[in-house]
Amino acid sequence: MIVCVCHAVNDRKIKEVIQNGARSVSAIARSCRAGTDCGACCSSLRNMLAESGARTGPCHEGQSRQ
Ligand code: FES
Repeated sequence: MIVCVCHAVNDRKIKEVIQNGARSVSAIARSCRAGTDCGACCSSLRNMLAESGARTGPCHEGQSRQ
């Protein structure tokens, strides 16, 4: 299932990034760019982080669209 439409990142990729050590929305963004455009996927990213036991943190601050 696609989580980040802007960058065509699916849930498997997000889970892989979290398993590889990403512990915040910003860390996910650095790894696969999810959350760096419109920000609509941020709540999904936060939910996936919370499910893994990581802190959720703010949405990525570097979104290109405000
Ligand atoms: S859907 Fe992820 S940044 Fe737009």
